[in-house]
Amino acid sequence: GVAAKIAPSMLSSDFANLASEAQRMLDCGADWLHMDIMDGYNLNYCLLHKPFILNYCKLVILFVLSLLLKVVGLSLSEFCVLYVILELSWMVLLFENVVVILFLHFVPNLTIGAPVIESLRKHTKAYLDCHLMVTNPLDYVEPLGKAGASGFTFHVEVSRDNWGELVQRIKSKGMRPGVSLKPGTPIEEVYPLVEGENPVEMVLVMTVEPGFGGQKFMPETMDKVRALRKKYPSLDIEVDGGLGPSTIDMAASAGANCIVAGSSVFGAPDSAQVISLLRKSVEE
Ligand code: DX5
Ligand code: ZN
Repeated sequence: GVAAKIAPSMLSSDFANLASEAQRMLDCGADWLHMDIMDGYNLNYCLLHKPFILNYCKLVILFVLSLLLKVVGLSLSEFCVLYVILELSWMVLLFENVVVILFLHFVPNLTIGAPVIESLRKHTKAYLDCHLMVTNPLDYVEPLGKAGASGFTFHVEVSRDNWGELVQRIKSKGMRPGVSLKPGTPIEEVYPLVEGENPVEMVLVMTVEPGFGGQKFMPETMDKVRALRKKYPSLDIEVDGGLGPSTIDMAASAGANCIVAGSSVFGAPDSAQVISLLRKSVEE
């Protein structure tokens, strides 16, 4: 079979001691270090704060309107029309905010970027398996290459139009290209990237919705792993999210060989034991 790669997700580590946490994982038998790079959105910002301010503006405008009603002699129905227009424009603004925020960001969490990879690289020679949960992966190629990233895995959902160029640039910066897909994205979407003349070298099948560590493994994603393994016997297939002693057998028997594990490794009293258990399951 394909070689097992166990990749503790540093998202679950103590970020304030990243270098020693990384070394601890390598000492525990980790092959790779999984680095989650996210661009973070906060919907509360547009759902709460902006409307809050806008509501105050609305009161002021309503006050002005009611003065107009008196001075200009607006009828009540005309006033109502004005009020409805005001409400509608407010809703359009709100909607616009949500759309802009969702378009500009990939996940609702903010983690680390190239500067942290650069710092960590000074402390370790380990393979840094970078998982980019960002809307514009192309913008990260150059800085991450310079910082010393080893693998660069982008999401197919945001790269449907430019993956050819993206893969080429990743390779030219000396990194290993990979593509990832969310639980709801059909596996067929990555086939062209594996088969193209500039192919990716790894497919990361997300087994939770990207964004946070410590979520529950989604067994239904295993159909995608099985389909991939059947089609590509020697491809690196990575799984990420909710993996640990109780879920590893499902992933390993489906055909995954690169295993990301955050909370199950960092949360265990004996991380080395968990890592070797994960490895055993893949190698069986
Ligand atoms: C989730 C990240 C994962 C996460 C996994 O968006 O991509 O790498 O850290 O954490 P666990 O293993 O705790 O689910
Ligand atoms: Zn990840």
